[in-house]
Amino acid sequence: MTARRGRRGATPTEPDTTRHIPVLLSEVIESLSPSDGDVFIDATFGAGGYSRALLNAADCRVIAIDRDPSAIAGAQSLCAEFPGRLTVSKAPFSELDAITEEQGCDRVDGVMLDIGVSSMQLNQPQRGFSFQSDGPLDMRMSRKGRTAADVVNGMDEEKLARILYVLGEERRSRAIARAIVKARADAPLETTRALADVVSRVLGGRKEDGRHPATRTFQALRIYVNDELDELAKGLSAAERCLKPGGRLVVVTFHSLEDRIVKRFLTARAGKEVRGSRHLPDQSLKSKLPSFRIVNPRPLTPSKGELEVNPRARSARARVGVRTEAPPWPAEEADLGLPSIET
Ligand SMILES: C[S@@+](CC[C@H](N)C(=O)[O-])C[C@H]1O[C@@H](n2cnc3c(N)ncnc32)[C@H](O)[C@@H]1O
Repeated sequence: MTARRGRRGATPTEPDTTRHIPVLLSEVIESLSPSDGDVFIDATFGAGGYSRALLNAADCRVIAIDRDPSAIAGAQSLCAEFPGRLTVSKAPFSELDAITEEQGCDRVDGVMLDIGVSSMQLNQPQRGFSFQSDGPLDMRMSRKGRTAADVVNGMDEEKLARILYVLGEERRSRAIARAIVKARADAPLETTRALADVVSRVLGGRKEDGRHPATRTFQALRIYVNDELDELAKGLSAAERCLKPGGRLVVVTFHSLEDRIVKRFLTARAGKEVRGSRHLPDQSLKSKLPSFRIVNPRPLTPSKGELEVNPRARSARARVGVRTEAPPWPAEEADLGLPSIET
């Protein structure tokens, strides 16, 4: 059965900045190709745009996961709309196979991962993800653990610079780290505005591609605080373990660090050589049978029409793999080229 293109409550004529507009929605649903009786994992529930579209497209079941307690609280009305067909769990998606088992399911027909933050998280100043408005420097999706303020005020200069360079691809990482350490000696940087001002002063208000000078610094801290790349690597392996033969994996990413990990994962698992991998000797590749088939060699990207409605989708990329009969590979995150921030 093909997916319905219509989506209730998800296509406002004016972009709604508070509600998350699902990215590459029709491409994701078509790639999953839902049929009656199927079971899917929506590992990044957010505002439930993908889950809703799947539940509308076929008489299927969705096991949804999000680590953000606000996303879970917001899911209750959708659960009530589709009784017995949607369950929502608060967990990191690295545990998606354990959650699936808890839900009484052995293998599933599809897994989707829509990596990054939702518009609700970005647009609430008190969550501390955005430099566009002032709020506490928090950035924790799960609301647990170390905040961005803890990192910025507690970490040594060299490691801070490394985080900005590796996870934000910020060329002026050293100068920014130096300025942060100098500023925090006067008073701790507790707010998004305080940090954005320090970065702007270093970069002289320079905008890159029309983006705020603090964009890369905020991206780096967010990825670090939420351990996003490690979560992605573990989530991909967990998906591999719980997909049935013929099951689909769809991953939407928003920047090159994430897309590279997904590409390397699927390329290796499809039995193709991963260029530049020093960690996977040829012999090891030969001894493993391909556990995925790649559907599109090039990632899917948003159409012009989608970008007009939702400019935030501009850097989105979706990669799709189909699970084979082969056993899952051992999880070897090193093969995915995860960058090291150790100094
Ligand atoms: C881009 S939004 C997903 C939006 C969703 N596809 C929709 O249509 O509304 C990403 C969501 O994934 C969640 N998330 C990100 N990383 C996660 C992780 N490692 N484990 C669980 N949830 C995660 C975030 O809290 C956020 O709600």
